[in-house]
Amino acid sequence: MSNGGGLVYVVDDNASVREGVASLIASAGLTAKPLASGQEFLALPRPDVPSCLVLDVELPGLSGIELQQELVRSGIHIPIIFLTGHGDIAMTVRALKAGATDFLTKPVDDEELLNAIRQCFAGRHACPHLSEIESDLITDTLCAAEEISSEIHFGDIVGNSKALRHVLREIETVAPADSTVLIYGETGTGKELIARAVHNLSARRLRPFVKFNCAAFPTGLLESELFGHEKGAFTGAIAQRIGRFELAHGGTIFLDEVGEIPLELQPKLLRVLQEREFERLGSTRTIHTDSRLIAATNRDLKRMVQEKNFRSDLYYRLNVFPIRVPALRERPEDIPLLVGYFAQQISRRIGRAIESIPSETMNALVRYHWPGNIRELQNVIERAVIVSRGPVLTVDVAELNTHNDAPSCESSHDHKSLDNLMHEQERTQILRALELAGGVVSGPNGAAARLRIKRSTLVSRMHRLGIHMSRDFNGSNSPGPNREIYRASAFAGRT
Ligand SMILES: Nc1ncnc2c1ncn2[C@@H]1O[C@H](COP(=O)(O)OP(=O)(O)OP(=O)(O)O)[C@@H](O)[C@H]1O
Ligand SMILES: [Mg+2]
Repeated sequence: MSNGGGLVYVVDDNASVREGVASLIASAGLTAKPLASGQEFLALPRPDVPSCLVLDVELPGLSGIELQQELVRSGIHIPIIFLTGHGDIAMTVRALKAGATDFLTKPVDDEELLNAIRQCFAGRHACPHLSEIESDLITDTLCAAEEISSEIHFGDIVGNSKALRHVLREIETVAPADSTVLIYGETGTGKELIARAVHNLSARRLRPFVKFNCAAFPTGLLESELFGHEKGAFTGAIAQRIGRFELAHGGTIFLDEVGEIPLELQPKLLRVLQEREFERLGSTRTIHTDSRLIAATNRDLKRMVQEKNFRSDLYYRLNVFPIRVPALRERPEDIPLLVGYFAQQISRRIGRAIESIPSETMNALVRYHWPGNIRELQNVIERAVIVSRGPVLTVDVAELNTHNDAPSCESSHDHKSLDNLMHEQERTQILRALELAGGVVSGPNGAAARLRIKRSTLVSRMHRLGIHMSRDFNGSNSPGPNREIYRASAFAGRT
């Protein structure tokens, strides 16, 4: 950016901050105009060059937020980067709602500030940046989160952490490219939401988005569900059936839990990906399909390839554009916004008026390590909304604290040992839940419900962790018909 190409107003009552920021801006080849108050800024004539405003939140007289409100009222559009001494979430959210471009916490990192300024001049008022969360009573978060999500045009994806923003950029990059996308991440991290976002931002957005969970069907049915069958193709095929690939023609097919596709079906899937053709079961007629494939998994496909449980050629075909969705514990900054979003969404749905969340509660939620990620958070908030009497959200923090001795991300940079710890932790939790559930996996009191994950996810995790099972489909003494029971003896030891 050349000198004079952009004008940056720096409004801060602290002279040394003001001058320091101004000289940083000048050193980057931009013109800086330091000012000591909001009133001085308002008194200036509007410039005829692109400009932005670096604004201290706490100013004597007219505060930064009041200045912003004044600008909005007067119809003056100027990107604002707020500098704040402390991460006051309520105030941050209010400012973001009013259109602030970014929020940086003092002492400001030079590079971060210059980047934010460059974003302003590039016209990319990226998603607002909540660089530090110190949760206070966050009444305003409740109404702001939804608006933030729509502001960044990613449907229902809420969050502003660096890690999530990276994912959103990847979505934007790959969506129009029509390539195969492989989304991987722990359970409940939002993989499906991301798959939908890729579809919604692609040229196929007006065509079907067909979701198919590969773990939800027994091997025998998978092929006909995916590729369809002709009448009489097998016993019980009383009518022709159109498979998901045909239904997705022109649109997107989302194969969830793709790691569950059995080896024997993998060549047929590979052929669809490579040749874009297949036959219905019981037919010799080749059908051509034009659908984009998005796959998701919470399994380590690479390891499955090494262990010969997944074909390497299919893996490479799927892994064209991998997107890793970070676990919630890797982006704790997103937690307050998500809490606000869910609290509002759920309280509206069930007719409650939740207005605020105590700061200790929010801190406990931010500290918790969320093994079930956003789905678990959503469930915790749903339960909290239901049990809360009055406008303050009551969360059973003690329940969360029982898990707080678990390893946290910040406590170790050694990813390998952290991985091992997480593995052990996961295994212990699953075994404990199975024991508590008397070996029952599904149903309201089953282990999956206790862990707040889906049955299919639990089963695949058990496979992965070597928790062996003896299935028992029974009626009489069991908790219900067709309910899977994992006998204690079978899951007690590691094999
Ligand atoms: N960033 C987000 N903002 C708002 N809601 C989210 C976000 N991420 C996930 N969710 C919600 O959390 C729940 C779980 O998300 P989703 O089903 O996409 O996870 P997943 O990774 O596909 O899980 P699984 O591996 O168990 O299938 C959904 O209700 C989803 O709407
Ligand atoms: Mg999913």
